[in-house]
Amino acid sequence: MGKFEVLDHPLIQHKLTLIRDKHRSTKEFREIVNEISTLMAYEVSRDMPLMDVEIETPIGKSIQKQISGKKVAIVPILRAGLGMVDGMAELLPVARIGHIGMYRDEETLKPTEYFVKLPSDISERQVFVVDPMLATGGSAIMAVDALKKRGAKDIRFCSLVAAPEGVKALQEAHPDIDIYTAALDEKLNEDGYIVPGLGDAGDRLFGTK
Ligand code: PRP
Ligand code: URA
Repeated sequence: MGKFEVLDHPLIQHKLTLIRDKHRSTKEFREIVNEISTLMAYEVSRDMPLMDVEIETPIGKSIQKQISGKKVAIVPILRAGLGMVDGMAELLPVARIGHIGMYRDEETLKPTEYFVKLPSDISERQVFVVDPMLATGGSAIMAVDALKKRGAKDIRFCSLVAAPEGVKALQEAHPDIDIYTAALDEKLNEDGYIVPGLGDAGDRLFGTK
């Protein structure tokens, strides 16, 4: 079974509380999601492999550590995942960006895939799938299906808020992937929204409601 981790760094928790507040403006919401994503990138890249390199300091030659160069891809699930890309790419600047478009039917809560565009060498990359909300898990499961179908093997899923139902469903469907979230909330309500959650992440990011 892959890892499941709640990233409870105080700065992440503090900023998450700010965006849960329904009075937060679209501008503030977007800025804070960006900041949290940078902090999450720091946490989820903790186990990146290092290698020895020889460098020359002003004092002399020395063997030091450098990231061993596994290629990385950040793959947002559209739309809301887009809000997490720039923040993560700040710490992972050489990452390639893929896109998976998906929307949830409001009645059935089932996702529909409408767009997939990934780096051609996705099978060689460490993939960070980003989406602020892991609710029923349907979108995440379908996104990981789409990635695996195209050869991706090393996949991590990063969300801001997860419902226990979504974590369970994603773990059952894809036991090999690691799941990171800034918060594990109480439950889903009858409309498929996470409680207490932060509302509709896409609408809050883009001001579409
Ligand atoms: C939201 C969210 C996730 C999905 C989570 O997207 O960003 O992708 O719902 O729900 P699930 O775990 O039950 O599948 P939405 O379908 O609202 O699309 P949007 O990002 O375009 O607003
Ligand atoms: N999608 C959202 O944007 N918010 C939720 O609470 C659930 C799904």
